[in-house]
Amino acid sequence: MFSNEQLNKFQSEETPFYYYDLSLLSATLKACTTASDKYGFHVHYALKANVDKRVLATIKSYNIGADCVSGGEVKRALEIGFNKNQIVFAGVGKSDAEINFGLDNDIFCFNVESIQELEVINELAAKKGKTAQVALRINPNVNAYTHKYITTGLEENKFGINQWEFDKVVTSLKSLPNIKCVGLHFHIGSQITDFNVFKSLCVKVNDIVKWFTDRGVAIKVINVGGGLGVDYYEPDSKSIVDFETYFKIFDSFLERTAQQEVHFELGRALVANSGALISKVLFVKNGQVTNFAILDAGMTELMRPALYQAYHKIQNISKSGNSVKSKNYDVVGPICESTDCFGKAVELPETQRGDLIAIRTAGAYGEVMASNYNLRNKVNVVYGE
Ligand code: LLP
Repeated sequence: MFSNEQLNKFQSEETPFYYYDLSLLSATLKACTTASDKYGFHVHYALKANVDKRVLATIKSYNIGADCVSGGEVKRALEIGFNKNQIVFAGVGKSDAEINFGLDNDIFCFNVESIQELEVINELAAKKGKTAQVALRINPNVNAYTHKYITTGLEENKFGINQWEFDKVVTSLKSLPNIKCVGLHFHIGSQITDFNVFKSLCVKVNDIVKWFTDRGVAIKVINVGGGLGVDYYEPDSKSIVDFETYFKIFDSFLERTAQQEVHFELGRALVANSGALISKVLFVKNGQVTNFAILDAGMTELMRPALYQAYHKIQNISKSGNSVKSKNYDVVGPICESTDCFGKAVELPETQRGDLIAIRTAGAYGEVMASNYNLRNKVNVVYGE
């Protein structure tokens, strides 16, 4: 929940806005780096989760690298001052201009998702007289047991190089002089809360690393991706993810030599809990069947509930204490779509026009996925120190 000081600040800001708690963010980053440093693991932050400049600067200050999926993200990472040796560029469809931008800026490596992409990077690097470092993104065919829209490591998904193409990749690598393969990359999905999934991933990765090593492809970097999930139900009692257990699993189950580096690309686990979407109730419609609390924020500001039926905890932060009678509301936005709904039958203290509503755990894949559909204004941002 929020302190009185935070609530007073919210009263004076124009809604809707994203609130980023930079001190919770720092505490999360500290917990993450303390746990990963124990094993000498390298953490990269997946910019796609949140590209706010102050959030990024805070992340960078913990000596975390940058995992980018577009030329725009590479540019943002460079502007914020991420070390170019710690910038990786992933993504299933990189344009020539984006690849050239990465080459010009000598980023650490491209995570390559197909043989054709390897050939194109080789050609573009050759034109510049450069050698591009790459990691092969492998589709390990491991089920992440998460929402089907955010599962990425199954053969039916578009991502990565499949096992049946491995022989061909090895032959390609040997024939492309402007490519240097530095490692393998895996990412099987997002919002993974069952830690056994990561154990299964390690077992699969061990086999695949061995397969490539046996065929003379030196694997210096093993990048196991991101995907560590957060608790959307208990944002206060579980505000920081269990990084200790997470990294320990990889330490225990991932086979590696002293020379091999292990890289991670965490997005959500680093930023989700530090963010909330704060909105105001515009109108309350008490119906015979359903009561509606209509907010000034909608799916244009936070798309996850509409897109994935994702749960976010919703709180009326203007009303507190047990003395207030509670009621069920469908908490909806102002957009002309029926899916513009943050939660159905949400139990809230009796709610009135003007009340402030917090939609919690919105620091990841919130602001970045906002749109101006219905010609909406860009959502504001407010920081807590
Ligand atoms: N690495 C790769 C290659 C990825 O595709 C992703 C996320 C990450 C790392 C970071 O994953 P994380 O640690 O955040 O789970 N918009 C969806 C999530 C899409 C995730 C896409 N890839 C959502 O709102 O749940």
